Amino acid sequence: QKKTRIAPSILAADFSQLGLEIQRLDQAGADYIHVDIMDGHFVPNISFGPSITKAVRPATAKPFDVHLMISPVDLYIEAFVDAGADIITIHPEAGPHFHRTIQLIKSLGVKAGLALNPGTPVDIVDHVIEDLDLLLVMSVNPGFGGQSFIPDSLNKIASLRKKIDATGRDIDLQVDGGINFETAPKAISAGADVLVAGTATFKGGPENYADNIKRMKGL
Ligand code: DX5
Ligand code: ZN
Repeated sequence: QKKTRIAPSILAADFSQLGLEIQRLDQAGADYIHVDIMDGHFVPNISFGPSITKAVRPATAKPFDVHLMISPVDLYIEAFVDAGADIITIHPEAGPHFHRTIQLIKSLGVKAGLALNPGTPVDIVDHVIEDLDLLLVMSVNPGFGGQSFIPDSLNKIASLRKKIDATGRDIDLQVDGGINFETAPKAISAGADVLVAGTATFKGGPENYADNIKRMKGL
């Protein structure tokens, strides 16, 4: 297992100063910047799109980890690559053909991730895992920050850890939703190596970001 990395979700940032918030996260030790894109259709909430993503991209050199909760999705992949995404993660249910979408992402030269909702079985990865750079276990139903971690997610993390190890490939195992100082160590022991955290990263304001990130890493 690789060392734990933290991907703060900017969904919990102050949107009126998003560029500055990203700079603060960079300085606080964030490993990736997790960018949640919601369309009000695939999930019951709307965040922002490629133009805002592009506008804040110069705020850091850290990888932009773009989590697309949009359907249909293929039409927008190129726009997010152009906006500066380094990793693009999609949901298999966003359709119509997630194998095709993964190939599209890779053909544009960025890393591809697949996100599994709480109700989505782990075997959905079986025929695409060799093409993936990241697997994301959603530990809440997607759409909102601040929800509680669903305990069964730990079983899914453990199953996916085995599948990843069996490939011998370098695939990030990410967990997203309800990560805090209590759930982070559980997710790490189950096999996760990238923790997405919105609420827990931003807790207490900018002076606490570095500490919050450190604590989630178990340092
Ligand atoms: C949920 C998003 C998450 C969310 C996490 O749909 O994918 O990234 O922002 O927020 P917390 O860490 O507050 O659960
Ligand atoms: Zn997310």
